[in-house]
Amino acid sequence: MTETVSDSAAKTQGAAGKPEHILEVTNLRKYFPVKSSGLIRRTVGHVQAVDGVSFAVPRGQTLGLVGESGCGKSTTGRLVTRLYDPTSGSMRFEGREIGGLNRRQMMPFRQEIQMIFQDPYSSLNPRHTVGTIVGTPMRVHKSVPKDKVLPRVRELLALVGLNPEHYNRYPNEFSGGQRQRIGIARALSLAPKLLVADEPVSALDVSIQAQVVNLLEDLQKEMDISFLFIAHDLAVIRHFCPEIAVMYLGKIVEIGERETVYNHPHHPYTQALISAAPDVKQAAIGGRRERIRLEGDVPSPINPPSGCRFRTRCSLAQDICAKVEPPLLQIGPKHKVACHFAGELGHHPSQPVTMELLGIDAQGSPVPGKQATDVGNEPGYDSTWYDVRTGRPAGA
Ligand SMILES: Nc1ncnc2c1ncn2[C@@H]1O[C@H](COP(=O)(O)OP(=O)(O)OP(=O)(O)O)[C@@H](O)[C@H]1O
Ligand code: SF4
Ligand SMILES: [Mg+2]
Repeated sequence: MTETVSDSAAKTQGAAGKPEHILEVTNLRKYFPVKSSGLIRRTVGHVQAVDGVSFAVPRGQTLGLVGESGCGKSTTGRLVTRLYDPTSGSMRFEGREIGGLNRRQMMPFRQEIQMIFQDPYSSLNPRHTVGTIVGTPMRVHKSVPKDKVLPRVRELLALVGLNPEHYNRYPNEFSGGQRQRIGIARALSLAPKLLVADEPVSALDVSIQAQVVNLLEDLQKEMDISFLFIAHDLAVIRHFCPEIAVMYLGKIVEIGERETVYNHPHHPYTQALISAAPDVKQAAIGGRRERIRLEGDVPSPINPPSGCRFRTRCSLAQDICAKVEPPLLQIGPKHKVACHFAGELGHHPSQPVTMELLGIDAQGSPVPGKQATDVGNEPGYDSTWYDVRTGRPAGA
């Protein structure tokens, strides 16, 4: 990347002089090596868990990341918190690049970016008391004087709705919902600016889920925390996230404002996901009740399909879909879709919307003399976009 940090920060300054986005992720990749068995373990392939995703988390707001199991949600969260090193790509936190920082350089950022884990049962050490679990980050980072750690632990326990006197109990003495609250107290202990919440309620009873989501909402307002909220449950995502990114097999296939993505999804995968979620089905398909069935299994991320990764399960797929990967094209003020035939359900165009832009014909072959426009995989939105209904550029 040739752009300097200050260039990027200046480009995205908000009204208060701070970057408008707390986090900007560009072309992020994580490939896990696959080793052969036997004595000499050679790398025989790669799991392309996250493959070139770009998104931005607005300051003090929430971006929801949704998709089926194995699509790369947790890997994305673990990259952002730098529990994993990225294979390539950029992550700018408050305008500063954190993708290439080593352990020591990451220390100050670790306080500011925290994670709530998927499973409240395995994410807490059963041999440590709650006081130790919640207090350890403060001790490690020396964020409060030693004698203030316990009072702060008690404050945090009270904040998440637990009895502050229970700091000397062990995780197994708490229910699942209470354990998730302990995980939240731990994540809050360093007063982070960004919280990556990885399926924070999926392991909990439905009755407890709402309580924990409400708690997160209250904490967000009180402490001005930005969230990257990961879930496979569209109802939870819809409740909590004003902006939503839909992932499929390591890629973002649609991203946009909540109402747009729910009421006017333009990607066949998003349309199928929404049609399968009981409470949001009707809003998405305008009163038609049938569910869109996704045929077949998710392909392996070790050897994903060429072109569009969704093509093996997409009822609209044509030759071009196997040949050319659809770019994440901005089609509205705050709406991007990666599909050659992007359109409202039942109104998908008969010709690829990407032809002109990519300089290709309807079969995906290059048209002599036509130049492909560079569709940058940049986070955030431009002031101009491509209107799929008119086939023309549009702008605010
Ligand atoms: N440490 C790892 N080594 C090798 N492959 C991994 C590793 N972690 C994840 N993967 C693979 O990467 C892909 C994405 O996994 P990830 O856990 O990010 O998915 P997810 O969207 O969080 O799924 P879920 O909804 O089940 O939590 C999967 O195919 C998974 O098997
Ligand atoms: S690009 Fe083709 S295969 Fe992919 S979602 Fe669109 S129509 Fe389906
Ligand atoms: Mg996960």
